[in-house]
Amino acid sequence: MIVTTNQLYKVAYKKFAVGAYNINNLEQTMGLFRGNVQSKAPFIIQLSKGARNYTDKRMLEAIIRTAEEIFPEAIFAVHLDHGDEQTCYDCIDSGFYSSVMIDASHESFEENIAITRRVVDRAHAKGVSVEAELGMLGGVEEDIKVDEKHACLTNPDEAVEFVKRSGCDSLAAAIGTSHGAYKFKGQQSLRFDVIEGIAEKVPGMPIVMHGSSSVPVEEVQRINAAGGQLDPSARGVNEEEYLPAARLGVTKVNIDTDGRLVWTRVHREFFRDKPAEFDFRPPGKVFMQAYADFIAHKNEKLGSAGQLDAVRATL
Ligand code: G3H
Ligand code: 13P
Ligand code: ZN
Repeated sequence: MIVTTNQLYKVAYKKFAVGAYNINNLEQTMGLFRGNVQSKAPFIIQLSKGARNYTDKRMLEAIIRTAEEIFPEAIFAVHLDHGDEQTCYDCIDSGFYSSVMIDASHESFEENIAITRRVVDRAHAKGVSVEAELGMLGGVEEDIKVDEKHACLTNPDEAVEFVKRSGCDSLAAAIGTSHGAYKFKGQQSLRFDVIEGIAEKVPGMPIVMHGSSSVPVEEVQRINAAGGQLDPSARGVNEEEYLPAARLGVTKVNIDTDGRLVWTRVHREFFRDKPAEFDFRPPGKVFMQAYADFIAHKNEKLGSAGQLDAVRATL
């Protein structure tokens, strides 16, 4: 069942975080639904601009609608990830999306507010909620690359003004994370002081953590042992920090890269071990189950596992 993102936030706020997982294709979608149903977790499906353009945006919509029929017990929201203004309008007008993210964080503070306000007005008129970003994460998202020296953490005082003037429903904040598989060298740590500052100054506002993949060392080592060339020193978010962050107000946790690593590991190992294979379905089956297990594992760490009935009771 597709619900609004706000319905999920109401149950989760300061108790657990809802996993927001990007999907691009059929196998990912099957694994995603299986993993969430298996772990009895509510979740958010995220579609990026890149995902919408990979085949045809209608294809993903049809896949999701079909998955909804195959898994009637699933409760989820559909969200546009890192949208520009036009893509937000396209999603709002489609009637399919529960929420959109307008990412104007690379603009000036004033311009970010102005763009976000326009999107909020159009979205709210159609019952769609809006995630906006303040501060700048490092890494690559869509076509924009931000290097570490230009990344900047969210200022809690600015967040108060930003939320008030833009009217956004949730706040993507820069709290020490970074997008992609090439995160930080050595150990990265979340900035709990910044999360606390935002939660204190903007009480009740769900905070969104982007760049939440953990880039597990074992996963990278297995990929490299099967012919990959990923940076083995990259480190993401410690999974044990998801729940403490959730209890402070981080209500949506965005995970994409770790799922891509599962795909890469499964396929590299499969074709290394079965070089004569050319049917894509055998590795596809292995991937769907591995992805489901990965989702169930993340949900345990986010605290969303087992929360399906609590959400259902509020609907
Ligand atoms: O933060 C961006 C997400 O990982 C989506 O990536 O734009 O390559 O689909 P994408
Ligand atoms: P990762 O690259 O850490 O998975 O982050 C994904 C994300 O923030 C999507 O918006
Ligand atoms: Zn992101």
